[in-house]
Amino acid sequence: MLHPFRPEQLSADVRPSEADIESVLLSSEQIQTRVQELAAQISRDYEGKDVVLIGVLVGAAVFCADLLKHITTPTFLDFVAISSYGKESRSSGVVRLLKDLDESVESRHVIIVEDIVDTGLTLNYLLDSMRNRNAASVKSCALLDKPSRRLTEVKVDYVGFEVPDEFVVGYGLDFAQRYRNFPYVGILRPEVYGGK
Ligand code: IMP
Repeated sequence: MLHPFRPEQLSADVRPSEADIESVLLSSEQIQTRVQELAAQISRDYEGKDVVLIGVLVGAAVFCADLLKHITTPTFLDFVAISSYGKESRSSGVVRLLKDLDESVESRHVIIVEDIVDTGLTLNYLLDSMRNRNAASVKSCALLDKPSRRLTEVKVDYVGFEVPDEFVVGYGLDFAQRYRNFPYVGILRPEVYGGK
């Protein structure tokens, strides 16, 4: 499927509406239950250790906050921002850091938190970057995984849900900065972005 390009802005009168959602893929309840399961798994795996969650802005902010609340081992929170690949629907493969971490991760246990792993290029870049900073360990956690679109092999240690090759929005995920506040994850109607 051809995915929408991500314009910097749509005109201000384009307002997000429930009618733009083709179907709800994951309800708010399903997401909350799974987030708690992931947090429990992380808490067990990191028992007795401190963890640094590194959220990838902006999409992972909502997931990151919910995950953080349910982890029981001491947890620190930091964020990075990554450039989008430009306006092509397919990735150019160029990833750039727009906002770096506030604190060093040297000798610390890091978990990179993504909203969705699609081509895998963003996560691959961040895993390399954190390893190069001599973190004690580096793992990854994604709410959603779209394995059918991978351009690079990358290991996602904690996965919320595997999703089909559809463009999804809500629970932090956007199209042109819209729909992030929807409490569920839904498939965006292709007409909204001029697809299919
Ligand atoms: P990757 O580098 O191709 O794995 O892309 C990851 C980023 O692309 C995610 O963090 C999202 O911001 C964005 N993305 C990929 N697929 C979707 C989608 O279906 N909906 C919204 N954003 C998406």
